[in-house]
Amino acid sequence: MGKKLFIETLGCAMNVRDSEHIIAELSTKEDYELTGSYEDADLILINTCSVREKPVQKLFSEIGHFNKKKKRGAKIGVCGCTASHLGEEIIKRAPYVDFVLGARNVSKITSVLHERGAVEVDIDFDESTYAFSDFRNTPHKALINISIGCDKQCTYCIVPATRGDEISIPPELIVQEVTKAARSGAKEIMLLGQNVNNYGRKFSDGRKGIDFSDLLNMVSDVEEVERIRFTSPHPLHMDDKFLQVFASNPKVCKSMHMPLQSGSTKILHEMKRGYSKEWFLDRAFKLRDMVPDVHISTDIIVAFPGETEEDFEETMDVIDQVRFEQMFSFKYSPRPLTKAAEMTPVDPEVASKRLKRLQDRQTEILDEIAAAQMGKVFDVYFEELRSGGAVAGRSDNNFMVQVQGSEELLGKTVPVKIDNPKRMVLYGEVVQQEV
Ligand code: SAH
Ligand code: SF4
Ligand code: F3S
Repeated sequence: MGKKLFIETLGCAMNVRDSEHIIAELSTKEDYELTGSYEDADLILINTCSVREKPVQKLFSEIGHFNKKKKRGAKIGVCGCTASHLGEEIIKRAPYVDFVLGARNVSKITSVLHERGAVEVDIDFDESTYAFSDFRNTPHKALINISIGCDKQCTYCIVPATRGDEISIPPELIVQEVTKAARSGAKEIMLLGQNVNNYGRKFSDGRKGIDFSDLLNMVSDVEEVERIRFTSPHPLHMDDKFLQVFASNPKVCKSMHMPLQSGSTKILHEMKRGYSKEWFLDRAFKLRDMVPDVHISTDIIVAFPGETEEDFEETMDVIDQVRFEQMFSFKYSPRPLTKAAEMTPVDPEVASKRLKRLQDRQTEILDEIAAAQMGKVFDVYFEELRSGGAVAGRSDNNFMVQVQGSEELLGKTVPVKIDNPKRMVLYGEVVQQEV
């Protein structure tokens, strides 16, 4: 009889995809099936994130809880970025953990499973040509890795220490994965990497001569693919060729993540981001010119060490000038293995005030942006049933749109007219098409 696997996934889309890979490996090679209840599971996995401190603190209380409630004989494994950075320490602090599997070692899941106390956290391990089996959380979209690791050294960020140096996955493997996914119904493809538009810098076989813009075109040549998204691009590598392909390729969705981090050129320099406020604004305005309906999202860190009131005002200024359609904002959190951890932190109260000011302003901007969508018609790719007989999906430019309807809409792209736009969801009605 099949064994049961419970898996909790924290962190970014990379981790979501890694969990899919782990599930695929365990179901095809080890006869596990998924369960939503950890009390019933024979194997409990937690796929962790290290990017800020809070989730790391949560890890130990969470696995302690799993250990108390688990079935007799059930195993517990800690995977992902915190596994990479704490390694053996996890088993020292929580000896009931059976194994630790780092974020760059996903393909070793079936071997660590059978070795109590195993710790696989090598950040040089090359998984770039490893063919994973298929599993997807949703039939309508597919997450496809295009690179592993990150070769930037942003001074606040622990990711290069948990996922290692960047290696691009060969384009023919990517196209093969995309084709398989699209033929099985995933019309929307999300290309994943920490730094997608640096694609092609390094392959493990040493080849050269292909960049992210070329890859976008190759993926769009796959006939069954309707929509292409990607995350995360880096503002530094937003050259004209990239913006041109983004703007002109009809399958590339008109939504761009532009992680600003800070609007102060001085702080950007301290963060080692490689661009200035002016470069960022230039790219954002160029994008808005080239693609009138473009949706731009961003990430902001407030109160990076050394951030003055004037530096923070620069961030507020960019928010007002660019008017991002979506913003993820965080208080700076000092991380081990990073340069910024040695710098003097900003007073936590000041940090909280700045975050609140930023978020309050962004809420006003979002209300204005939402109101401006009234009466517009968007092509929505429906992917999710909601309570109360509703169905939700995304417009090409990444607005969440919801209508009354049934599962018949799932997996279809349908025009919707917005009649009740809200900050988080634009409500509307399907436009009846003539037959
Ligand atoms: N590669 C992606 C980011 C991955 S981490 C990129 O460059 O955009 C996701 C986000 O977490 C970052 O964009 C940043 O805003 C935030 N982040 C990273 N380290 C952080 C830290 N030490 N404190 C607070 N936020 C952090
Ligand atoms: Fe972290 Fe910077 Fe790499 Fe993004 S680009 S993962 S923020 S080091
Ligand atoms: Fe977190 Fe690792 Fe992603 S630290 S944000 S899960 S790359």
